[in-house]
Amino acid sequence: MTTVTERDVQTLRDALGPLRDREQIAERLLESSAKHSFDPDTELDWDMAIEDGKWFWPPELVSLYDTPLWRKMSEEQRMDLARHEAASLASLGIWFEIILMQLLVRHIYDKPVTSNHVRYALTEIADECRHSMMFGRMIQWGRAPNYPVPRVYHNLARVLKTVSTTPGSFAATLLGEEILDWMQRLTFPDERVQTLVRGVTRIHVVEEARHVRYAREELRRQMVTAPRWEREFTRLSCGEAARVFSVCFVNPQVYENVGLDRREAVAQVKASGHRTEVMQTGAKRLTDFLDDIGVLNGVGRRLWKSSGLLA
Ligand SMILES: [Fe+2]
Ligand SMILES: [Fe+2]
Repeated sequence: MTTVTERDVQTLRDALGPLRDREQIAERLLESSAKHSFDPDTELDWDMAIEDGKWFWPPELVSLYDTPLWRKMSEEQRMDLARHEAASLASLGIWFEIILMQLLVRHIYDKPVTSNHVRYALTEIADECRHSMMFGRMIQWGRAPNYPVPRVYHNLARVLKTVSTTPGSFAATLLGEEILDWMQRLTFPDERVQTLVRGVTRIHVVEEARHVRYAREELRRQMVTAPRWEREFTRLSCGEAARVFSVCFVNPQVYENVGLDRREAVAQVKASGHRTEVMQTGAKRLTDFLDDIGVLNGVGRRLWKSSGLLA
C-alpha cells in the first residue's frame, strides 16, 4: 500500500494549479455564508433609544484619547466626540464598501458565472449592500451627520476603482477591512458601548472575516501569478492607498462639531503616541501579511511608513 505524503499532495496541487484551490476556498466561504449571515433590519432593534452614559465607540479608540486636549474636555464632550467619530468611521466604511462592490463586480466580469469563486463574490457584494445600509442607519440612529472623505480623495477613488488591477483591488480591500475590523473586534464585546453599536459591529465582524479570507487568498495568488509590472504597481498603489487611508481615517469636521479647534485637535492627534500605537497595532495583522507576500518592498514600504501605519 502506498502512502500519500505531504509532498505528493503539494505536487498534485501544483499540477492542478491555483484555480482549484480558489474553488475550494470559495466553497467553504459559501458554506459559512449560508450559516452565519444576518439581516440587520430585523436582527437589530432600531427603535431602541440612545442609552444614557454609554459610549458610541470605546474611548481608547477615539482619536484624541490621552492627549492634553482630551484631559481638558468634560466627560460629556468626550462622549460626544466618540459619537461623531463612530459616524465618521461608519461613513468611511460605506465609502470603502461602495468602492469594493464595484471592484468585485469588475473582478468577476470575465470569470465563469457558475464557478464558486463568482458565486462567492456575488454573496460578498450582497453582504456589503446590507452593511452599507446598516452603517447608514446607525449614523442616523445616533443623530450624527454623514462625514464624506475630502473631495480630492473621493475623486481619486473614482479613478482607482475604475482602472485598478486585480491585485491592487484586493490589497486596497484588505486595507479598508482589516484596520476597521480590528477596532470593531474591541467594540462589540465592550459593555461601556451602546447596545446598538455593539450589535452593528458584531454583525460586521462575523461577516467580514470571510471577506478578509477571500481577499487574502486572492492577493496571495495574484502576487505569484500576476505579471511583474502588475506586482510592482500593486506595491506602489497599496502604499499610496495606505497614505490616503490614514489621512481620511477620521474626518476633522468631528472636532469642530463638538466645539473644539480643528487645527489644534488635528495637531494633537498627530503628536499622540497613544494614537500612533493604536493605528500601528490595528494595522499589524495586515502589514505582517503584506510583508509576507512581498507587497511591502521598495517605494511601497516607504509610503506605508509615511502613512504612520507601519513602524
Ligand atoms: Fe462590510
Ligand atoms: Fe467587507
